[in-house]
Amino acid sequence: MTQHLTPNELQTHIDKLPRMKMAHLPTPLEEMPRLTERLGGPNIWIKREDMTGLAYGGNKARHYEFEMPHVSEQGYDVMINVMDYHSNNARMTAAAANKIGMRYILVLKNAANRIVQGNLLIDKILGAELHLLDEYQSGDADGYATRLKEQLEAEGHKPYLIQEHVFPRIVGMVGFVQAGIEILEQINENDLKNIHFIGVAGRSLCGLIIAAKAMGLDWKFTGVTVNYDVPLGDYIFKHNKDIQELLDLPVTFEQSDMRVLDQYVGEGYGVMTAEVNEAIHIAAQTDAIICDPNYTGTAMAALIDQIKEGGFDDDETIIFLHTGGLPAVFTFAEQLANFKGTV
Ligand SMILES: Cc1ncc(COP(=O)(O)O)c(C=O)c1O
Repeated sequence: MTQHLTPNELQTHIDKLPRMKMAHLPTPLEEMPRLTERLGGPNIWIKREDMTGLAYGGNKARHYEFEMPHVSEQGYDVMINVMDYHSNNARMTAAAANKIGMRYILVLKNAANRIVQGNLLIDKILGAELHLLDEYQSGDADGYATRLKEQLEAEGHKPYLIQEHVFPRIVGMVGFVQAGIEILEQINENDLKNIHFIGVAGRSLCGLIIAAKAMGLDWKFTGVTVNYDVPLGDYIFKHNKDIQELLDLPVTFEQSDMRVLDQYVGEGYGVMTAEVNEAIHIAAQTDAIICDPNYTGTAMAALIDQIKEGGFDDDETIIFLHTGGLPAVFTFAEQLANFKGTV
């Protein structure tokens, strides 16, 4: 039989890792009463990871509390990140790099000749060394970054090229194991039952799954796919196991740990669907929650649709994991401003 940990015991496992304060914690867990009323389904709450405070907030603030100490302990002296021009990750990495005084090179795809707005503007203000690739160069963005890395190595530097499966990046997931302890306390304070999380299918939700399993909680998880390119299976199952090993936790994982919904992607990453545009307006005009056009807007559209379709039980308490992304609203201003529907 699996031995479950108390929150304090789980905390001692986490405390063995180096950590640097980055996020404003705890973030609020609050009700969305007007959205709940409008949809006429189960009670909806929201965990405000958009309020973590690191250069406009988002989930990465928690990740970097663990990832950045690991990066500096390994002796890296420059970070290279390859991201899309409107990336939240790009911005928050720039902010976290500043916090530890690390040089940061940002290779941005599809970025040449873009209006400098949203995340791109913040990247610039934060002082990231920008390489703005055009569409043609973007096809070989990874090659471009590898050449930069080799050049830096030849100059005697130790560059950390951030890639999906490199270890420091995976260590970041511990931030959301930590969030699991915080959320459990808030759930108990508010006497909430039958918890069902919904959010972007990614590392943050995975960290919560690890926390729930370690503490023997019956929380359910629905992950919404926003990007076909992300190797989700690897994150949910392979890297959950990496973190389980890193923290030495007595847990195992199954495919059924997360219900994955991939029907809300639309044309793909970075292309906002009409449903997402509507969902952004609904969340804003009910409980004054601003979602972003790529990640949380897609998760919000999924939440709204799933309640209509009976995808949740009425006695569940839904917790929407708002993972941030707010500056992207300004990049997609034209489409958002042209929303013609009524809410
Ligand atoms: C707003 C937002 N939500 C969710 C994610 C997914 O992140 P993760 O896989 O770290 O949970 C991202 C990734 O950049 C993001 O920007």
